[in-house]
Amino acid sequence: MNRKDEHLSLAHTFHRENKNDFDQVRFIHHSFSGISIDEVDISTSFLGFSFKQPFYINAMTGGSQQAEKINQQLGMIAKETGMMIATGSIRSAIKNPTLASSFQIMRKENPTGVIFANIGANLSLDNAKQALELVEGNGLQIHLNLPQELVMPEGERHFSNWLENIADIVANLSVPVIVKEVGFGMSSETIETLLSIGVKAVDVSGNGGTSFTQIENARRLKKELSFLDDWGQSTVVSLLESVSYQSQIAVLASGGVRQSLDIVKALSLGAKSVGISGTILNQLLTNGLEETIAFIQQWEEELQLLYTLLGKKTTADLLTTDLILTSDLIHWCESRGISYQQFAQRK
Ligand SMILES: Cc1cc2nc3c(=O)[nH]c(=O)nc-3n(C[C@H](O)[C@H](O)[C@H](O)COP(=O)(O)O)c2cc1C
Repeated sequence: MNRKDEHLSLAHTFHRENKNDFDQVRFIHHSFSGISIDEVDISTSFLGFSFKQPFYINAMTGGSQQAEKINQQLGMIAKETGMMIATGSIRSAIKNPTLASSFQIMRKENPTGVIFANIGANLSLDNAKQALELVEGNGLQIHLNLPQELVMPEGERHFSNWLENIADIVANLSVPVIVKEVGFGMSSETIETLLSIGVKAVDVSGNGGTSFTQIENARRLKKELSFLDDWGQSTVVSLLESVSYQSQIAVLASGGVRQSLDIVKALSLGAKSVGISGTILNQLLTNGLEETIAFIQQWEEELQLLYTLLGKKTTADLLTTDLILTSDLIHWCESRGISYQQFAQRK
């Protein structure tokens, strides 16, 4: 089976909406909301774009016939809902132009929407330009996937040029760039390094949802690296790691978002918007296009309700919600010198 098809099928097979670190974050309930639901505005803005909802469809696929069909449907969903969307890694089509249509279909279905083209950090500025041109991208996502490459039997083994490539791309592209993880999360050191080379936006993409070490390990004959299946930091931990950089860099979050409440938690921890892959793929493959659109619209309604419950009229106001972190998260914060008390009583 084609690797991209295997990724889709394994991501679907392994998709679980089990407990994850979003459950370790609790809002403090206050009895007076002080606002009405029709005053709530769930829109968000970052990197010069504005969206009516604070969540987006994150990078997934392209590069096979099945991927083309999925990208067509994802393009339709993005058009219908006005969501931002990212392609899967365009590397395959840069190497083999006959695969271009499997990515271009997303633009065809969503001619005026915001589409981010996705490539890996091992690719050059010229490759970035090719990827953007291919889908008429409004921005570029560069993914960091070290654990995935190492577990992937045919994966990369040379990683020394990543920072140089990213620095060259951010210095020379005219469109916004997001550097993202793929479900392993980011540390404050990673964010600081990216900031120092001119990166303006990161998607911390943490663990708790799709695991690419689990997926790649399942593709190995002996599956001998399964001890890496849950490698990395969760999305919540990665957001905590990002807190002291949030005034200098736009932080997006993804990884393990199962329900609308998870989105509100990520926004309250400082994310400007929240990416979803596994849960949307699972909806689409299980329930089809129309139900997936309805599912997204239902999340928008739920967000309206949750902002009201928290007494917050806007997405930016969520930064003043009162949050309690449970013991594992506190242990992480204490070990890393992150002040967790700041979340419990915010003004
Ligand atoms: C089938 C599938 C393929 C993916 N392919 C890519 C990719 O090509 N490039 C990328 O940056 N991330 C890719 N991702 C990772 C997601 O963008 C996201 O970072 C990760 O899945 C965590 O989010 P989730 O838990 O909501 O799935 C893929 C995810 C899935 C489910």
